[in-house]
Amino acid sequence: MITPVLLCGGSGTRLWPLSRKSYPKQFVPLVGEETLFQASARRLSGPGFAAPLILTNSDFRFIVTEQLSEIGTDPGAILIEPEGRNTAPAVLAAALWLEKTDPEGLMLVAPSDHVVPDAPAFRAAVAAGVPAAEAGQLVTFGIKPAHAETGYGYLELAEDPGDFAARPLALKRFVEKPDLATAETMLASGHYLWNAGIFLFSVKAILAAFRSHAPELIAPVTAAVEQGKPDLGFLRLDPEAWGQAGDISIDYAVMERAENLSVVPFAAGWSDLGGWDAVWREGGRDDRGVGLSGHATAIDCDNTLLRSEDTGVEVVGIGLKDIITVAMADAVLVADASRAQDVKKAVEALKAKG
Ligand code: GDD
Ligand code: MG
Repeated sequence: MITPVLLCGGSGTRLWPLSRKSYPKQFVPLVGEETLFQASARRLSGPGFAAPLILTNSDFRFIVTEQLSEIGTDPGAILIEPEGRNTAPAVLAAALWLEKTDPEGLMLVAPSDHVVPDAPAFRAAVAAGVPAAEAGQLVTFGIKPAHAETGYGYLELAEDPGDFAARPLALKRFVEKPDLATAETMLASGHYLWNAGIFLFSVKAILAAFRSHAPELIAPVTAAVEQGKPDLGFLRLDPEAWGQAGDISIDYAVMERAENLSVVPFAAGWSDLGGWDAVWREGGRDDRGVGLSGHATAIDCDNTLLRSEDTGVEVVGIGLKDIITVAMADAVLVADASRAQDVKKAVEALKAKG
């Protein structure tokens, strides 16, 4: 069986004002009717998949259970992290949990805030990776790079991806978040794919990888799981032990150091919604480039995103060009379309104001 391990700890500041610390983007219906978290859980369900294991924090625990019950999904377990220590401790906690319940099983680690519109194609890519994962490989999913992005990991292929068919290819190495010059060289070489941030491996293989590459995490995370307290159907990881675990991502802790890596190319559409520009692209736009959502009306606008987020606030744009507007009941963002990545500065500026 494959257990989906859904990570939902992040806060997504680049999608302010919709994504908040108290209600981040994975729990909001950004593209389509379901929330990204619900779509992720549904994408990784059906034949071959066990009930999902969720890793989240205390603030989101009831949002998680409510949103799962809305789509009729029972979680296998919900582990509560006392504080965010990044993805390496979270994945290790999941592996240690599964070692007790399904030690021979596979785990599919996935963020809960990505958009993958073609769920059957994604499940086919996962299925294609299963034999490699069963053979002890750490399987990544590779996206054809579109630009020299510095916010992603890069996968150096040991063989030609050909027609991008879903089959595991050998990897030379994994490079997490290169600088711009390196990313440009990688893009130009044609030998690299973007790391989708989704991983498939056996419980045994990832535990062995942690033991070799990040042994310092084993003791604190094991203690946090062993001494965790069951609470209303959740498992609260032990705060003291958890606090001893280093704050590091799985990409740096394991993937950059491991040698048993494979990649399944995935060409059917993927976005991590890293900003309003990406939401705009995924949500569709008309032939003048206008994207609308909620109570929004555009009159004679070009290349403009207008969103009213579930509050009944009417947003009307007239003669706008290259503008992003996102209106909530208590906050409105108006930005130049080229500045979508600067929205995190809004959050910093507001935080500084207190
Ligand atoms: N439960 C939990 N706890 N989840 C977490 C934590 C944590 O402490 N920290 C992050 N997450 C979740 C985030 O919510 C997100 O869904 C996922 O784990 C990945 O974390 P990000 O912080 O978004 O990582 P990133 O975007 O910088 O980089 C990763 O994703 C890229 C693709 O989107 C890497 O895997 C890159 O290599 C990859 O290209
Ligand atoms: Mg991310």
